[in-house]
Amino acid sequence: MKNKKLVMIPGPTPVTRSIQDQMGRDTVAFGDPDFINDFKEVIKSLKEIFKTEGEAFIVAGTGTLAMEMGISNVVKEGDNVLVVSNGFFGDRYVELCERKDLNVDVLSAEWGTTVSASEIEKKLSEKNYKAITVTHVDTSTGVCAPVAEIGEVVKKFEDTILIVDGVCATAAEPEYLDEMEIDVLITGSQKAFGVAPGLAIVLAGPKAIERRKSLGTIRDYYIDFEKWIPIMNDPSKYFATPAVNMIWALQESLRIIKEEGIENRYERHIKVARAMQAALEELGFKILAEKEHRAVTLSNVLYMDGIDDGEFRKVLAEEGAVVAGGLGEYAGKMFRLGHMGNIDTHYLISTISAIERTLRRLGIEDVLGKGVITLTRELIK
Ligand SMILES: Cc1ncc(COP(=O)(O)O)c(C=O)c1O
Repeated sequence: MKNKKLVMIPGPTPVTRSIQDQMGRDTVAFGDPDFINDFKEVIKSLKEIFKTEGEAFIVAGTGTLAMEMGISNVVKEGDNVLVVSNGFFGDRYVELCERKDLNVDVLSAEWGTTVSASEIEKKLSEKNYKAITVTHVDTSTGVCAPVAEIGEVVKKFEDTILIVDGVCATAAEPEYLDEMEIDVLITGSQKAFGVAPGLAIVLAGPKAIERRKSLGTIRDYYIDFEKWIPIMNDPSKYFATPAVNMIWALQESLRIIKEEGIENRYERHIKVARAMQAALEELGFKILAEKEHRAVTLSNVLYMDGIDDGEFRKVLAEEGAVVAGGLGEYAGKMFRLGHMGNIDTHYLISTISAIERTLRRLGIEDVLGKGVITLTRELIK
């Protein structure tokens, strides 16, 4: 019998049955009173969990749309923007900002490391930046940026809006807008929320909302905060059709998060990540990210000599786990393993065991059970 394929890529992540059930419901009119209440509850929950007095926006789209929405509402053509890039998705913000005729400066880190808060402080002191973007976890490197420290720095610069890309972090790495001085948090549904792809989620604090007001009419239409604020404050109003079933799916995801407790969820992600990383190292792999900056949502795993990327991922899929390939210059040299969202111990143990069987099939002896023992020991600590 064929193995079930566990989706262990860094998003979309496995979608639990109760969330799938919401997506499979009969779609109702977006003016349906029950749906309006559900939509209201989702907006309220997002603001409560991620702590902001500002606004929450949920629109049909993906993380990239959320990135665009984040920047478009807080700057205008010709403004200075600082992009902090720890990898592929940081670089995406550079291209996005350049297309909008923003004046972009970039602080880049070597892949596997992160730009420090002090480097950022130095750069921000050089000129007036209207916004700074930081990728919380860059999925290409598995590096987690020190967002809390960066928030402390950015708060010294009154004119600068801090935009955090939480696509691969939100609901797994702590992100509290008001406490961490994050002005805009952009994210998507398909990673640590454990919902299918399809929703762009943006939270904007009071400073960002004020900035949007001061800009007057902006060029962008669908992603304009001002178009959506009336709807997010009263979902019985219409601007563009809400993704009814996806909003229900997010509602169920938020219910699961509240049931677990957001702090417990953060703790669980740390434990799982450290256990998975220890198990992978036990099997002879190296992790790209420096130990002190490793993400909890995924691991970017460097192959040992002699392992072919295509062959490894093909055999691993046959053994029942699907992982993603490396990006940029790491294509062919590493695989990316997601371990975030609503996954339980069965997923973790099955994945490590499938990796062991794969290594064995590729000619590496003496691995069976080693990773599973390390993983289990770490998980029961
Ligand atoms: C950190 C980060 N930002 C942005 C994106 C883009 O999101 P999407 O693919 O949903 O458009 C991704 C996607 O993996 C990501 O990992």
